[in-house]
Amino acid sequence: MNPNTLIDLACGMPKAELHVHIEGTLEPELAFALARRNGQTLPYADEAALKAAYDFDSLQSFLDLYYACADVLRTADDFRDLMLAYLERAAADNVIHTEIFFDPQTHTARGIPFLTVLDGLEAGLREGKARWGISGRLILCFLRHLSEEEAFATLAEAEPYIDRIDGFGLDSSEKGNPPSKFERVFARCRALGKPVVAHAGEEGPPAYISEALDLLGSARIDHGVRALEDAAVVARLVREGVPLTVCPLSNIRLCVFEEMNQHTLGKLLADGAKVTLNSDDPAYFGGYLNDNLRAVQSAFNFDAATWYRLARNSFEASFATEAEKAGWIARLDAYFRAAGHPLG
Ligand code: HPA
Ligand code: ZN
Repeated sequence: MNPNTLIDLACGMPKAELHVHIEGTLEPELAFALARRNGQTLPYADEAALKAAYDFDSLQSFLDLYYACADVLRTADDFRDLMLAYLERAAADNVIHTEIFFDPQTHTARGIPFLTVLDGLEAGLREGKARWGISGRLILCFLRHLSEEEAFATLAEAEPYIDRIDGFGLDSSEKGNPPSKFERVFARCRALGKPVVAHAGEEGPPAYISEALDLLGSARIDHGVRALEDAAVVARLVREGVPLTVCPLSNIRLCVFEEMNQHTLGKLLADGAKVTLNSDDPAYFGGYLNDNLRAVQSAFNFDAATWYRLARNSFEASFATEAEKAGWIARLDAYFRAAGHPLG
């Protein structure tokens, strides 16, 4: 099959996205529109000047800008508009289910009530479902550069609305903030009956992946791309079928790898790891999910069976019900059959 046909096949696949930060979907145009609406001024002359600042050399250099831009998010309508803008783009990439991270501490620290954030994001999810049929869930992330005590305070704020939260995660500055710091917080999250995930092995060492599994009970590993530095960690991920939510363009833009052809995702897949592809912070990293697929295909030239496996992994690794997963996988199978690739 020629590569053009294969990338069209991949872009057209129904799929799930399991690693996207809603604050990371804030496009410069929307940032300026919200700033105007809220009577704020951004420390950049215009959208082009803001975009020019997207020149990162590490996770921290990105996070500094990401937290600064989030300051334009003030009202429930701001969060709703942000969610809708993301869902429209995701739906255009044939994402039919998405599990979305949000960082309440970024907002509550600025005096925005937790409920304003949650109400706005949920309103966006409801409207997105009605407009594009896309299904979405919310994963509350704790900022790991903050303390355990602050994470517990955020969890206490979230608990009255626990039925509206689908899981918990851990993000922000990885180096020096190991999963062990949040062992007790995550024990409480699990006691509330929620699945948990953690960023690990993005900039941090493979030992953080082991900690996320052993100490936090992480059901997936967000990134995990440094696993290959420890063969025992890779063997465990494969043996236990732990999903990895890999974000290729993010890893290039944050200098985890120099070039896409040096990315470990090909080797992880070949070793049998349950890799999924995701966009992470698409407004900042050069593209949404299908942009990631195009960049991966240019470097790896995957065959139809590999694309099928990646899409199937995205559904299997989701926190949806078994019935939802079965329905989506049947759609995926039908899509491949219709394209002349009966892979299901
Ligand atoms: N890593 C850690 N924290 C984050 C990221 C990321 O890629 N994106 C948003 N917060
Ligand atoms: Zn992330």
